[in-house]
Amino acid sequence: MSKRYTWSELPKGLRSSVESVTGPVLESERITTWHSDAPFTGALITDTGRVFAKAAPDHDTATIEQYRRETLLAPLVTRYAAPLLGRVSEDGWTLLLFGYVAGGNADLSPGHKDLGYLSATLRAVQRIRPPHGLALPTLADQWAEHLNRDERSLLSGTHLLHNDLVPSNVMLRYAGYDTQAVLVDWGRAVLGPAWAEYAGLYMWLLFSGHDPAQARAWLTRFPAWRMASRAGIRAYVAGATAECADSPEHVARWMSLLDR
Ligand SMILES: Nc1ncnc2c1ncn2[C@@H]1O[C@H](COP(=O)(O)OP(=O)(O)OP(=O)(O)O)[C@@H](O)[C@H]1O
Ligand SMILES: [Mg+2]
Repeated sequence: MSKRYTWSELPKGLRSSVESVTGPVLESERITTWHSDAPFTGALITDTGRVFAKAAPDHDTATIEQYRRETLLAPLVTRYAAPLLGRVSEDGWTLLLFGYVAGGNADLSPGHKDLGYLSATLRAVQRIRPPHGLALPTLADQWAEHLNRDERSLLSGTHLLHNDLVPSNVMLRYAGYDTQAVLVDWGRAVLGPAWAEYAGLYMWLLFSGHDPAQARAWLTRFPAWRMASRAGIRAYVAGATAECADSPEHVARWMSLLDR
């Protein structure tokens, strides 16, 4: 795990540049999740309200690549994401500033109404048509070292996939008359077949208390998932299990996606 910083530990030049955009930061609150590994994520409180900020040193190339994808996608996903307010690079650090999403994290446990909000957002995201030549890796690229050529071709597709639907990345925004699920943290987004988003979600449904049969039944509401080929899902599971091969429980959970 990388070192985690507080706002006041970030380089002075970076903080001054941020404050030239936000106004003086009066207070800050670190936001951490159970799996947090980010050098800095938190709320900055100014006299005009709160903003969300995340920052990393430029030598942390994996995180900077995630920030690149988030910045690249911001104009495409604006209706389904926290708005990107700015990107500041100073003193060897990069910081992204987002509008603050006040509704907290979604609850993806069986029967919870937040699942309905998430379904609506996922269906809308699948209607986004990424422009030709968008500089985003594919799902097959992500697992290139683990999959053979046939498996990789089963994962090809041109849909935009968030690809990291851990419940802490699904947030709620109260939109006056209704609630909307907003997807944050687009840093692992890739291009691939539409159904693969639901394959990825399967693990987080289990994590949120669904049993495998319940999770598989819930996913059948998505036409793209119903159309997925068994060979395609098998290729997805091959990629996902290769990534967690050191955890037999994780591997067993992924394998249960094929029990149908
Ligand atoms: N715009 C926002 N407004 C309020 N809270 C947010 C916002 N964006 C993210 N969060 C919260 O902060 C957490 C961390 O943000 P995010 O996932 O974008 O950062 P990260 O660098 O990927 O960190 P992590 O390793 O924790 O996933 C999210 O899981 C979410 O709970
Ligand atoms: Mg996250």
